[in-house]
Amino acid sequence: MHKIKVNLKERGYDILIGKGIITRSSALKDHVSGRSCLVMTDSNVGRIYGAYVMKALKNAGTTAHVVSFKAGESSKNIDTFGKMLRHACRAGLDRSSVIVALGGGVPGDVAGFVAASYMRGVKLIQIPTSLLAMVDSSVGGKTGIDLPEGKNLVGVFWQPSLVLIDPSVLKTLPKREIRCGLAEIVKYGVIMDDKFFSFLEKNLYGIKKMEPNTYGKIIARCCELKAKVVCADERETTGLRAILNYGHTFGHAIETVTGYGKFAHGEAVSIGMCMAANLAIQCNKFALDNKFSQELANRQKYLLQAIGLPTSLCTGISPVKIYKAMFKDKKAEKGKLRLVLPVRIGKVSIVKDVKAEDVMEAIESVVS
Ligand code: NAD
Ligand code: GLY
Repeated sequence: MHKIKVNLKERGYDILIGKGIITRSSALKDHVSGRSCLVMTDSNVGRIYGAYVMKALKNAGTTAHVVSFKAGESSKNIDTFGKMLRHACRAGLDRSSVIVALGGGVPGDVAGFVAASYMRGVKLIQIPTSLLAMVDSSVGGKTGIDLPEGKNLVGVFWQPSLVLIDPSVLKTLPKREIRCGLAEIVKYGVIMDDKFFSFLEKNLYGIKKMEPNTYGKIIARCCELKAKVVCADERETTGLRAILNYGHTFGHAIETVTGYGKFAHGEAVSIGMCMAANLAIQCNKFALDNKFSQELANRQKYLLQAIGLPTSLCTGISPVKIYKAMFKDKKAEKGKLRLVLPVRIGKVSIVKDVKAEDVMEAIESVVS
């Protein structure tokens, strides 16, 4: 078993990673014994893993209930939030109770927001089951829901008390979801860890073959990196946490312009990272200390392609529309773009003053 500490003092917690951990009561005992628990999950994950988690909770000495909602981003809304709160009430949860988020980022965000709101806040345990949730959303305390007006517009920071990651549940995750998680994993290499990036390049066989050992190492390293960022900038006030948005401003714009569904989020982020890399080259074209070279951009592109992620857009998608959509990003400040651009593999910087023509050129550079 691998243990990672998120050192947030009184809000600190452990991330425990291990095969079969979700079936073990020992990992849960200290957190749930003598308290009532409500497992919140979605229709897919609840069907496959709900009973295992319920058994582990009961063996850990708690009365547990489970509630599920329809799987998918469309459930991450006010209606589901309200229903889950009312379930908590009807299940008799009190201020000492624990909410367990079981599933991908959607149950994680919804259940996290319910835990933060119910009786002004109860304990939360995250049990992520998608690769994205294991390496990103379950760690760091961002919770929330979407509005018809936009994604993630309502929510709060609410740190979990424990994160339990069982990589063996990835065997039932659809391959496309695995690839989407891998886009975020490549992102960690580019933004903060060149050695990890090289590890990914060297372990493509294990990645494609879903080798448990390889995934165990990858998930643990990503959790360490995310924990480091979160501890340095828990509430995204200093700007450091924003580096996690590498490729995302372009990615969200691609999702908006192509219509949600054509590209999954991770696929759009993959193309977005290629645009950001090309923009870094473009911005540095005339700088003497130009570090981010075409060679590095190609390394990123080849790794993404080898994983099976898209790195280009087909003609017919308007670069101008993508450019305009980028200004709708939550991270745009007073009508100005704030972009995370690579300096080298393993380091990024946040750039505020990018010229429109450079951004346009970067978008056009990936249209094939
Ligand atoms: P998701 O929760 O919808 O999961 C994707 C699909 O995989 C769903 O159909 C789900 O039922 C299924 N699934 C999950 N685990 C499974 C398993 N082990 N076996 C079989 N099927 C499984 O989406 P996601 O991609 O996990 O997360 C995306 C969400 O996360 C978005 O809403 C995004 O905004 C949010 N997010 C939050 C943060 C954060 O810091 N809070 C960070 C990144 C993303
Ligand atoms: N996924 C972005 C963050 O947690 O800040």
